Amino acid sequence: MKILVVGNGGREHALAWKLLQSQQVEQVYCVPGNGGTAIMSGCQNLLLKVDDFEGISKFSLKEGVDMVVVGPEVPLAKGITDYLRSQDIMVFGPTQAGAQIEASKAWSKALMQEAGIPTAKAAVFTQTPEAKSYVQAQGAPIVVKADGLAAGKGVIVATTIEQAESAIESIFQGQFGSAGKFVVIEEYLAGQEVSVLALTDGLTIRPLLPAQDHKRIGEGDTGDNTGGMGAYAPAPIATPELMAKVQTEVLEPAIATLQGRGIDYRGVLYAGLMITPQGELKVLEFNCRFGDPETQVVLPLLATPLEELMLACIQQRLGEMPPITWKQGVAATVVAASGGYPGNYEKEKLISGIEQAEALGVTVFHAGTKLLGQQIMTDGGRVLNVTAIGENFQQALDRAYAGIRCIEFEGMYYRRDIGYRVR
Ligand code: AMP
Ligand code: GLY
Repeated sequence: MKILVVGNGGREHALAWKLLQSQQVEQVYCVPGNGGTAIMSGCQNLLLKVDDFEGISKFSLKEGVDMVVVGPEVPLAKGITDYLRSQDIMVFGPTQAGAQIEASKAWSKALMQEAGIPTAKAAVFTQTPEAKSYVQAQGAPIVVKADGLAAGKGVIVATTIEQAESAIESIFQGQFGSAGKFVVIEEYLAGQEVSVLALTDGLTIRPLLPAQDHKRIGEGDTGDNTGGMGAYAPAPIATPELMAKVQTEVLEPAIATLQGRGIDYRGVLYAGLMITPQGELKVLEFNCRFGDPETQVVLPLLATPLEELMLACIQQRLGEMPPITWKQGVAATVVAASGGYPGNYEKEKLISGIEQAEALGVTVFHAGTKLLGQQIMTDGGRVLNVTAIGENFQQALDRAYAGIRCIEFEGMYYRRDIGYRVR
């Protein structure tokens, strides 16, 4: 098979890497890929933009690409799947209608309410005064969200009413552009977050191993939100009992309600869950794609060939597939970020030590990197994901940290406490 992966993050490097492990996969193309996919044997980067649907389609038809796998939410929300399907190209990822589950928090909330999926109480606003009165009536802490896609920055967990009010003002003043036409204000939930990435063909839905990521930049889960600074799987908090509840109370009702709306959803449905201190399960959000960095710890443990599962989703035969199988052990990843991230940071710093890290047995998934001549340079906020498997979390984390200590670039930052809950 020839497979084209859309995206350029650590998630896409992990997808390309996993797909290439299968005997059935001879070639992977990445659009546009990164420094890691540029040097991976069997993989080739294409100089196309993720929303150049025509370019991706033309290339796929010309080269006989068998399947396109879409990593990020933006091309999905713009309708890449609808476009490629209309050209008879097989695509793993939901249509534009399905991607609304991530692209509009108000739409997603309404779907959860219709499906009876447990979630935080919320209200949707189009005007500042009404939103502010609601916040004053509810009190703090409270969560203010821009409705649309905001590159992970559209959620403000406000600890005071003043903070919530200023978040409302900046969203309505256009801080996130058209993503801020609506504001969703939500009850604050305490607890532990778990990410459940599930594969679906629109009829059947099957979860992958549950993962936990660390969203905050600082140790002890403090400071600004990021895309994720590290992750591990399987998350012990997601017991078999909890996963059974996720299946019947979250995943199945979501798919049934999508079906009821005439939405044919094939790809990943990612449920971002909060487990409250009372052990209650609530959905914080749905995403229409694989998580990043969760994918980097889930895929190394997957034993069933990934392309078989993806094809089964596209061809609506997931229900006929044998159960998904997993390797023994656990996985952990630690993100090396550019100094200053998630704020401003510099790029084009020379990275050294990746080969030394890999010689220790870790897998280094590239995120914000590029190949310049023979050199790997930084090219983004989250730069590398140093990933290790082990018999237990202590071992996997020790290995990942031994690997990351080999790596250097100017301004490199990483959290030293990834996985503190499971060590
Ligand atoms: P979302 O994109 O809606 O998942 O929000 C991003 C992050 O904000 C989540 O991963 C949580 O850390 C936090 N968050 C979102 N909603 C809530 C909530 N209702 N209560 C507490 N934290 C939240
Ligand atoms: N790691 C969070 C996300 O992918 O949305």
